[in-house]
Amino acid sequence: MKTCIVVSGGDAPGINAAIECYLRLARRHADQVVGAQDGFQGLLAGHAREIDRAAISLLAGRGGSWLRSSREPALGKAGAREKLLGVMRDHQIDNLLLFGGDGTIRTIMPLLETWDVPCVALPTTIDNDLAGSDYTLGHDSACNYAFHTINGIKATAHALPGRIFVVETLGGDCGNLALAVAYASGADAVLVPEYDFRLDWLADRLNTAVAENGAALAVVCEGVKNIERIVEEIPELTGTRVRHSKLGHAQRGGDVSHHDRVVARDMCRLAYDAFKSGVSTATVISVQGRLRLHIGTLSEGGRVQPDYDRYAFVNGL
Ligand code: F6P
Repeated sequence: MKTCIVVSGGDAPGINAAIECYLRLARRHADQVVGAQDGFQGLLAGHAREIDRAAISLLAGRGGSWLRSSREPALGKAGAREKLLGVMRDHQIDNLLLFGGDGTIRTIMPLLETWDVPCVALPTTIDNDLAGSDYTLGHDSACNYAFHTINGIKATAHALPGRIFVVETLGGDCGNLALAVAYASGADAVLVPEYDFRLDWLADRLNTAVAENGAALAVVCEGVKNIERIVEEIPELTGTRVRHSKLGHAQRGGDVSHHDRVVARDMCRLAYDAFKSGVSTATVISVQGRLRLHIGTLSEGGRVQPDYDRYAFVNGL
C-alpha cells in the first residue's frame, strides 16, 4: 500500500506527531508513504515525495507542519480531477491521508468521494469548530499556549494592580477556542462572536473584578467585531487602564500538548486500520471524547455553537 499525506488549510499542533506515527506504522508493515508538498496545489503539480523521517521525528513535538500546506482551492479548478488521478497513477499512490479543518473536510472530502479517490481525513484545527466532531487536533495545544501567556499576565497583574487585561485568541469566527481558554483560566469575562453583549455590562463586570481582585482578565475571540474600539472604550467607561495582548499566529504554531500527541497517534492508527480494511472514504471524529471512524463524508453541517452554560458561568450571567 502506498499512502500520500496531504495537509490542507491552516496547520495545527499535532500534525507532525501524527505523520511520525503514520510513518512508523507503514514501516512496520512494509507500506510506502509519500508527502504532498504545499497541499493539493503541490500534489496536482506532481510534488509528492519521500518524507524525511529524521526531520519528522525531531519535529513531532513542535507545532506547524513539516509538510507544507496550502489554502488554494486547487481541486475546484477545471481539470483538477484528471490531474489528481494522473499524479496518483504516476506515483502509484493508493490512497490519501488528509489533514484539514472544517473547510477541507466539507468541501474536499465529497469531491474525493465522487472521484473515487480513497481518502481518510483527520480533523485538524485549533478552532475546534467542526460540526460532527467534538474535538479537532491542535485545540488543546492552542489552549496550553494561551495558558502560558495568561500565567505571565496574571503574575504582572498581581505585582502591579489596578489594570484590565484583554487577551485576544485566534479562532476565526468561532468562539470555542476563546471560551475554552477563558473557562479554564478563570477569566472574568469572555467575548465570542456567537453571543451578543453590552459594553456597559462588560465595563461594569471588569470594574468589579478590579475592585475585588486587584485586576481583571477578559478573553476575546478574534472574530468579535470592533475589538479595537471595545479596548479603547473600556478605559473611558471604567476609568481603568486596559492592556491588550494578541496571541496571534504564535498560538497556532505552539508546542504539542500531551493530549494532542495521544490524539494524533490514535487518529493515525484508526486511519491506517481503515485503509488496511479497505475503507475508501472516512473521517476520524470524536464523539463524547472518544475517537472513532465515520464512514463516508460528514453530513452534519452548519456552525458549532460554543457551550452556553460555560459562557454564562465565565460571565456571571
Ligand atoms: O486555522 C485556523 C486559524 O488559525 C484561525 O484560528 C484563524 O482565524 C485563521 O486560521 C488564520 O488564518 P491565516 O493563517 O490564513 O491568517
